[in-house]
Amino acid sequence: MSLKNKKILIVIGGGISAYKALDLIRLLKKNNVNVKTILTKSGKEFVTPLSITTLTKNKTFEDIFDKNSEAEIDHISLSRWADLIIVLPTTANFMTKLSIGKAEDLATTVLLASNKDVLLVPAMNVRMWLHKATQRNLKTLQDYGYYFIGPEKGEMACGEYGEGKMSSPRQIYSYLKNYFHQKDLFKKKKFKALVTTGPTREYLDPVRYISNESSGKQGYEIALALKKLGIKTKLIAGPSSLIYSKGLKIKKIISAKEMLNEVKKSLPVDIAVCAAAVSDFKPISKSKNKIKKGISNLDYMSLEKNPDILDYLSKNNKARPKMVVGFSAETENVIQNSKKKIKEKYCDLIIANDVSKKDLGFNSEYNEVSIIDKKGRIKSIQRSKKSYIANAIAKIILDKLLTNDKNIN
Ligand code: C5P
Repeated sequence: MSLKNKKILIVIGGGISAYKALDLIRLLKKNNVNVKTILTKSGKEFVTPLSITTLTKNKTFEDIFDKNSEAEIDHISLSRWADLIIVLPTTANFMTKLSIGKAEDLATTVLLASNKDVLLVPAMNVRMWLHKATQRNLKTLQDYGYYFIGPEKGEMACGEYGEGKMSSPRQIYSYLKNYFHQKDLFKKKKFKALVTTGPTREYLDPVRYISNESSGKQGYEIALALKKLGIKTKLIAGPSSLIYSKGLKIKKIISAKEMLNEVKKSLPVDIAVCAAAVSDFKPISKSKNKIKKGISNLDYMSLEKNPDILDYLSKNNKARPKMVVGFSAETENVIQNSKKKIKEKYCDLIIANDVSKKDLGFNSEYNEVSIIDKKGRIKSIQRSKKSYIANAIAKIILDKLLTNDKNIN
């Protein structure tokens, strides 16, 4: 049973749903989970340290300035102890503090100092949840890599109806079971990924080339997101002015042919994401010297098709990655054309985007995509930062890989 002996640190926030933390602790203890808790000052208005300690059989940690608890266990070791940290309920105010990196008490300090996954369980009034500030904080926190469960739709303590109700202890428990099951599987597997990104350059002569506007940003963010999930990732990048972080393994190439060679060298991998805007054509031959203006023979302009790297990967019988992900940049009938492409290119997921939209896609910090799977199921992500979209794509890839679950929502 995958929850047995796991260590969970629960931060109990200030909200009427705080009492549900007790039910969750009871469920976890029944399944041999080690539970420690931090009770925030406002959480203490709703539940008592005594009731928590009675259930966890552990001291309830309270204030950062509590000399006794700091002597016993400091805020760093408390976060290192845990396999996972849960904040329950996560209030709107707590989300604000987390998104600006505040460290004003034990709970916020532990979270800021943490190197562990954090699950946030929001609970608040529907208006508070839907407020632009909260929604912006939600995006920021998802971008930082925090996990969320809920909130659910339902009747709230204040009597209003809508999205904002905290997920039930049962729902949280099922989430945790699934989370640890995937983590355990993941530890055993040690996945490898390759990502292609950027444009390619196809030279006509020593100074002129065919290329495109791609910045390589989206693929770069996907490689970072996969790496953040613990996947050994190699980025194969065409020429761009992007400055890459040092932590990522990067191979820079110029032409489509070089990109394909590098892809071949990187196999076998479990995941291949082809985000590169590969030039479809290349000159049949490259002139040794700069082509003169007056030249009559324009043979140098004869073009031939470049190899299709995505196609090579997805139809590679010997070393086909388990997940092959392609991109589909379209200017019309985006979904329809992308659904066609997923079949033609034989890939597992296709990321469709409308490149005719202003300030999106090529050379922009932002993108708007629809993630489509083989069965035609679609998850759309509205205009968001490319890093946010990358995290969402990486998570879907991993979920599919781990569970063979065909669901993408
Ligand atoms: O057919 P189309 O070029 O629209 O397909 C786009 C997808 O195919 C992208 O994932 C792109 O990285 C990949 N591709 C490739 N090699 C090519 C052309 C496209 O890997 N030569």
